[in-house]
Amino acid sequence: MNMRIAVFASGRGSNLLAIHDAVISGKLEGISLDLAVCDRPDAPVVDLVHKRNIPDFIFCPKDYADKNGFETVIAEKLAEAKIGLVVLAGYMRLVGAVLLEKWEGRMINLHPSLLPAFPGKDAIGQAWRAGVKETGVTVHFVDAGMDTGRIYLQQKVTVDPDDTEESLSEKIHLLEHKLLPDAILKIIQEM
Ligand code: GRF
Repeated sequence: MNMRIAVFASGRGSNLLAIHDAVISGKLEGISLDLAVCDRPDAPVVDLVHKRNIPDFIFCPKDYADKNGFETVIAEKLAEAKIGLVVLAGYMRLVGAVLLEKWEGRMINLHPSLLPAFPGKDAIGQAWRAGVKETGVTVHFVDAGMDTGRIYLQQKVTVDPDDTEESLSEKIHLLEHKLLPDAILKIIQEM
């Protein structure tokens, strides 16, 4: 197997790192991370991408007329890099028509709740404030909606009595770092 993937991220990049670690360690055997796409040149993920020598496309949305403008360039980069699966890991934008037309069904997103509960921003904070006894992590296919695509994999996280929002956040992120590489491998094996 030889599958080239791209990861899109806008912030910290801990999931991009977890994916890259899984590639390096051989856990994602036959899979390579060949493009990182980032829409915020000042995001911490950009340093990680440079340190790991991952080929990148880093852009400022305001340099383009509209979403179609930058998505057209992203689509070209994905094609040039011969990408077969796109992984959104903290990409803080709705994907538009240009990318969906080409990538729907081959683009997944990671979300820190048990969708359909708590879609959108700050899902961990939303769950915390709602006082739920359990929340979790979802990997789903991307469609035009906000965290609405077909769910592929979910795993629960218990909110314990002594948890704080911070400790809950930590548990969720730890799980994400395992669940996302697992989901990538499983999806690619099923392709
Ligand atoms: C993760 O919690 C992911 O579920 C959400 O954004 C966060 C990204 O974290 N979509 P990081 O940038 O990978 O550290």
